[in-house]
Amino acid sequence: MPQYEHQMLCRIAEQPLTPVVDFGMQPLGNGFLTENEISNEYFFRLQLGFSEESTLLQLLRQPEPERMFHNQYPFFSGTSSVMGTHFQTFATWVIDSGFLGDDPFVVELGCNDGVMLKHFASGGIKHLGIEPAENVAEVANQNGVMTISEFFSESLAESVLERHGPADAILAANVLCHISDLRGVIKGFKKLLKPNGIIAFEDPYLGDIISKTSFDQIYDEHVFLFSAHSVQYAFSLEGIELIDVQAQSTHGGSMRYILANRGAHKISSSVEQTLRQEQKQGLHRIDTFDIFRINIEKSRKNILAELNTLKQRGALVAGYGATSKSTTILNFCGIGPDLVEFICDTTPLKQGKLSPGMHIPVVSHEFFQQNPPDVSILFAWNHGREIMSKESAYIEAGGKFLTHVPHVHYV
Ligand code: TYD
Repeated sequence: MPQYEHQMLCRIAEQPLTPVVDFGMQPLGNGFLTENEISNEYFFRLQLGFSEESTLLQLLRQPEPERMFHNQYPFFSGTSSVMGTHFQTFATWVIDSGFLGDDPFVVELGCNDGVMLKHFASGGIKHLGIEPAENVAEVANQNGVMTISEFFSESLAESVLERHGPADAILAANVLCHISDLRGVIKGFKKLLKPNGIIAFEDPYLGDIISKTSFDQIYDEHVFLFSAHSVQYAFSLEGIELIDVQAQSTHGGSMRYILANRGAHKISSSVEQTLRQEQKQGLHRIDTFDIFRINIEKSRKNILAELNTLKQRGALVAGYGATSKSTTILNFCGIGPDLVEFICDTTPLKQGKLSPGMHIPVVSHEFFQQNPPDVSILFAWNHGREIMSKESAYIEAGGKFLTHVPHVHYV
């Protein structure tokens, strides 16, 4: 049985991919493990390829979905209060958008713990969450959100359609970029969507990743790094068009893409503006990724130089937030417990475990408070503002936060 899907053709355009960035052998971004599991730890080669046809930047290989999204999946959206507010705003936007018909039906892929759908549930709106991680889906159901634990596919779309009827809105946040069979998902959307329904999804935005050199957004789960160009191309194959794009500040810079059946709705001028901006930034051109690669190398050099200086000074250095993103930084830079003594995280499932690949102990926030490090690396830099305000006492006592985005500096 293959350990991963090895793709040399674009998953959408089915044309050859050109390899552009290689991170070498990497573990699973969320593969937190115990001491006993170290000997069986899974590694794969994390490498990006670009399709000049679809302009879709994607992983050449992705581990099988069952390895990544299972009943011990440790990511719960509800852990960030800012994200909670964001999803409430997203839900309100959908409800007030004018796109929902009478007695609407709203479907969300990867609804996680129900952080967004609960706002539809509480308004009495017919909804369905589709969440493959069983443990997370269970929490959603406990939160009063009707959820099934399945992977979305064309055939699942058919059975949802049969059982519940067509959807007025299909939503997803930080989900589509995880699904290798994007083509199948789009075909499923086409079947499930009402003729004048909408698809609204958001994901980390390639434009921000390139401009901020936030290479830590690249790990096993993020098989695609989307731009308006690539989204437009992918959905156009099923007669679905981009009708609006809305930039979001979440996850260090995301984009919300609104799509509909061709001709069903007016196209906002934001689409043309964003496509023009992307052309200026070169997101549709392969040579842009040569510069990206050089910037990533510089970032690695600067992170290591700062950590080695801190080590020489005898400083206590820890990580803040055992994010999946941090797995790429730690393994690509070769940073182990000699440079970063522990990582604190509020997720109970991660605490007491070791970080993937580099095996740095993950501890509770209480441990962090009892052992305040001289310097904390902001691995959850995308939640920087929330963390800074929460940690004012630590900062006042002399604690410092270090980040690599958009360049290595103290916050
Ligand atoms: P996120 O950037 O959403 O994760 P990922 O890179 O995995 O997509 O970060 C969330 C992680 O950070 C999660 O493990 C919880 C942790 N965290 C804290 O420990 N404290 C905090 O105050 C916040 C906001 C997050």
